[in-house]
Amino acid sequence: MDKGKFITIEGGDGAGKSTQIPFVEQLIRSRGHKLQVTREPGGTELGEQLREILLNFSAGKMCDDTELMLMFAARKQHLYEVITPALEAGVWVLCDRFTDATYAYQGGGRGIDASRIEVLEDWVQQGLQPDLTLLLDVPVEIGLGRTGKRGEVSDRFEQQQVCFKELVRESYLDRTRRFSHRIKRIDAAQKVDAVQIRIVEEFNAFADNVT
Ligand SMILES: Nc1ncnc2c1ncn2[C@@H]1O[C@H](COP(=O)(O)OP(=O)(O)OP(=O)(O)O)[C@@H](O)[C@H]1O
Ligand SMILES: [Mg+2]
Repeated sequence: MDKGKFITIEGGDGAGKSTQIPFVEQLIRSRGHKLQVTREPGGTELGEQLREILLNFSAGKMCDDTELMLMFAARKQHLYEVITPALEAGVWVLCDRFTDATYAYQGGGRGIDASRIEVLEDWVQQGLQPDLTLLLDVPVEIGLGRTGKRGEVSDRFEQQQVCFKELVRESYLDRTRRFSHRIKRIDAAQKVDAVQIRIVEEFNAFADNVT
């Protein structure tokens, strides 16, 4: 049996990831694939508890390395419990954020050296990479405007300064240039339906190649 494909959606806060996940889900299912939809940090019971700490811990400062290691701890559990078994069983996996987000937020945003992130990436993923990553790219101000309107209490990352978010965006764009075979940039400042037209283009180009 063929392995499932691993697709991730990335982008800064308010880029539209959660909005577009059901659309991508339907594209994958319409080609007859079984699908597991999940998210990071989280996706398992333990991972969701770590997510709560990562997003909302407020009793003092969390050291940047602690944050990095908690991200990868949640990721290891996610791979072990959900992602790897699904892919092995031929099920496609669609994940809201993955390791590109770690390079963007903990690397670009917090300033942790990429070489140190790579050590954990190799350890935890043992070579596994997404087959396709859709980067929803928006200028920081637009993302901020959208999350502001959403009206939820902001988390530890959303509370960061604009310069942090600019660094996150730059890191994502830098990775898009370096891993252009896998990461596809989509201009997510456009209207929802225009974003979807680009998603269909990139998804079809990928899916026509692998199926
Ligand atoms: N293309 C778009 N144009 C205008 N508004 C949008 C667009 N896409 C999403 N939105 C709105 O912007 C807000 C943020 O979108 P969404 O929650 O999907 O972003 P996200 O990338 O999942 O954010 P987060 O990183 O915080 O999870 C929502 O209120 C959503 O309805
Ligand atoms: Mg979201």
